Amino acid sequence: MYLSPIILLFAGIANSNPVELSKRIKNGVGLTPAMGFNNWNSGLPSSATTALAAAKAFVSLGLKDVGYIYVNTDDTWSSKSRASDGSLVPDPSKWPNGIAAVATQIHGMGLKMGLYGDSGTATCAGYPGSYGHETQDAKTLASWGIDLWKYDNCSPATSGSSQPRYTTMRNALSSSGRAIYYAMCNWGQDSVWTWGAETGNSWRISGDVTDTWSSIVSIASGAQGLAQYAGLGGFNDFDMLEIGNGGLTAAEERAHFGIWAIAKSPLLIGTDLSKISQASLTVLKNKDVISINQDSLGIPAKYFTPSGKSGPVSGQLYPYWSGKISTGYVIGLVASNGAATLSVNFSDVPGLGAGTYSWKECYTGAMGKGTYVSANLAAHDMAIFKVVKS
Ligand code: GAL
Repeated sequence: MYLSPIILLFAGIANSNPVELSKRIKNGVGLTPAMGFNNWNSGLPSSATTALAAAKAFVSLGLKDVGYIYVNTDDTWSSKSRASDGSLVPDPSKWPNGIAAVATQIHGMGLKMGLYGDSGTATCAGYPGSYGHETQDAKTLASWGIDLWKYDNCSPATSGSSQPRYTTMRNALSSSGRAIYYAMCNWGQDSVWTWGAETGNSWRISGDVTDTWSSIVSIASGAQGLAQYAGLGGFNDFDMLEIGNGGLTAAEERAHFGIWAIAKSPLLIGTDLSKISQASLTVLKNKDVISINQDSLGIPAKYFTPSGKSGPVSGQLYPYWSGKISTGYVIGLVASNGAATLSVNFSDVPGLGAGTYSWKECYTGAMGKGTYVSANLAAHDMAIFKVVKS
């Protein structure tokens, strides 16, 4: 049976979400968090070659099959000046056949194409921003066949909140004639989560991620308290993934991916897929973890405190996460303070209550049934349990 996105949106909101449906963006895309690739963290150039290689890798590595769809190009893709009619110009050395031709090829592979811009007068790397050109730029994106627009916050032409600039571009996109996923990137400024859902499909909640465990801890712990603002069609964006870039251990890659996934962040691969290890690829392709991220309820997991444990400390990553999913519940356990055996009684999980439940751990595939779950974890590793009433 086909259920329209709007019906699903109603169902999800009724089940879950405090942000009123009337206040959420209704552009028909981004109902679940975006999954794809963005070249910025990888250091690869913002070019047709990079975008097409990523698209081909999505198909050949089986990433498309598990849901990675958006092939996004970040800052530095354009020429330094606009055309005489004021329109954005792709750098001809990076896009010899223009952008529309690449979008057509990407669409031909069953994928979508994303591009980057800025709400000020210039991007962070000094390329043209869209301030004062919003309507024209949105029409250009639509004419090229762009499916996702990441919108940055450098070089603002006016002082004060970024909300009006982001709203202007939302309106321009919605009048462009094309459904374009709107990824807002104002680094969590101006309490973006309070107006994010009515403006875009996702909003960055922090400064830029780096390829370090301390950065993962800082973003994940800073997200605590923001879960209530996310829901179907609009999500907190923890920033692009660093998996495969060498700065994290295998355990830390599992925790990085797992937290982003269960907290319903977009999952944008940020590494050179021609060089990715089998171990990193296995993390990115974990279907159970992805199913939680893409769950039809769109409810982010958040911290809970088991009885007898001390509560979260600001700035530190807390080990205990849980949230509702359409099939039951997810429980995430993170060995944030070093190797540990972490256990949780189901009766301590908000919404679950006492009783016997069946569970599956997503990374090991282990399954069981009982009144609690337990995981023996290496430092910074994560276990993710899908739990159903038995
Ligand atoms: C930053 C943004 C990054 C990347 C970069 C490009 O502001 O947070 O994700 O897009 O600009 O210059």
